[in-house]
Amino acid sequence: MATTLLQPAPFAAADRAEAERTFLSANPAFRHTALLDELRATEYRRLEERGEIYLDYTGGSLYAESQLEEHLGMLREAVYGNPHSVNPTSSAATALVERARAAVLRYFDAPESEYACIFTPNATGALRLVGEAYPFGPHDRFLATFDNHNSVNGIREFARAKRARTAYVPLRAPDLRVDDGVLERHLDDAATARNKLFAYPAQSNFSGVKHPLEWIALARERGWDVLVDCAAFVPTSRLDLSLHKPDFVAMSFYKMFGYPTGVGALLARREALARLRRPWFSGGTVVTANVQGDLVVPLSGHARFEDGTVNYLGIPAVEIGLRHIERIGIDTISHRVGALGSWLLEALQQLRHSDGSPAVRIYGPATWHRRGATIAFNFLAPDGRVVDERFVDALAAAHDISVRTGCFCNSGAGETAFSISKDMLTRAEFADGMILDDYIRLVGMPTGGAVRASLGLATNFADVYRFMSFATEFRDLTEVPADLPPRLAC
Ligand SMILES: Cc1ncc(COP(=O)(O)O)c(C=O)c1O
Repeated sequence: MATTLLQPAPFAAADRAEAERTFLSANPAFRHTALLDELRATEYRRLEERGEIYLDYTGGSLYAESQLEEHLGMLREAVYGNPHSVNPTSSAATALVERARAAVLRYFDAPESEYACIFTPNATGALRLVGEAYPFGPHDRFLATFDNHNSVNGIREFARAKRARTAYVPLRAPDLRVDDGVLERHLDDAATARNKLFAYPAQSNFSGVKHPLEWIALARERGWDVLVDCAAFVPTSRLDLSLHKPDFVAMSFYKMFGYPTGVGALLARREALARLRRPWFSGGTVVTANVQGDLVVPLSGHARFEDGTVNYLGIPAVEIGLRHIERIGIDTISHRVGALGSWLLEALQQLRHSDGSPAVRIYGPATWHRRGATIAFNFLAPDGRVVDERFVDALAAAHDISVRTGCFCNSGAGETAFSISKDMLTRAEFADGMILDDYIRLVGMPTGGAVRASLGLATNFADVYRFMSFATEFRDLTEVPADLPPRLAC
């Protein structure tokens, strides 16, 4: 990606047009993403109307107005009933849900003969389905990278309950990537285990690192089942399941196109799905079950995993959302966030105090190589101390800027980024009555969290420029108020 020429701080509003011209001349291909500027002015005009700067796309993407209108029109036009019947209104709902299921598989180039699409409430729901049903046994393995959302880390509890061994592949600081050699040693270290599950994110929700999809084949060749958390990857990157064939893929649709919330998916290789052992059965997942005979005959494929009534009014909006992305083109989105993210990453790294000391510390790759548009960082005071992220949050809110602060539910990436050792963690006990702040002090963490700016399909140059204007307020900052709100959860 081309390196852009930066405006010198302080990113004054009056200099924005000139900065944008400089950006465009350094990124000529950015013009091919002009459709997104048009959509920003129409579909996403509420951002301008409300003066909001939204940079929390890894938290959740934004919906286009037309998605809502199309969905509402669909709901108005017909009568939809619970799909667990065969009556006309039930059949109408079933038809829409099945259309959406086929659209998801098509979108990810997943052959229907090979992959099943299971609708879940979110990515976490998809991860839980795998964790609780994976046939772990004594001496089996669960392997995960340090870089994982806590919804993946939680699978270790299912593994341990069945006396399987769990292990983590560490990250390298400062770029927060995994050393391929170390990964291969971990993958080679379980030759005798029968069931072994390896889980990693295609893109880090902390550092933006894109971990190689080539790991899927590497691990599967060694007999591992591979679970790829794609929640932070698919909103701005192409996932082609005809090329890379993980056993399980988890995602949340609101992270891709903002609406609907409450719907995610587990895409699973049918062969791997058949090996899962569900710990219970429920309405919607059985051919039949009886009480006196103790019989239960599970359904097969996706139906065995969709507990109760699926979100049958929300799921059709997934097809609408996918069409919206397809009209824009995922490669266009990818290119756009890459160019804007690269500009922002460079601008943050160039931000200096008057004495020349850096005003920002980036966690993760410092260049735009194999990374996505999620940038984690802290502001630094001139003496090098970290500026409390809660102060950044408060000041950002006062400017109508939405960024995320904290550890982003990614404990392992945070531990590596903040240089927290196993020793520091095992010495400290989270005692009764403590709050998170007490624990952070006890561990001796240099910061309670980072700031995360993440870009998405509706981001434009003005957003990142205005964010940099805001960032200049941290130049030469030496004091932060003492009365910041307590940290209650990670
Ligand atoms: C990489 C990753 N995995 C999993 C999740 C969990 O997603 P959800 O809260 O929608 O279940 C997130 C949410 O931020 C994420 O970024």
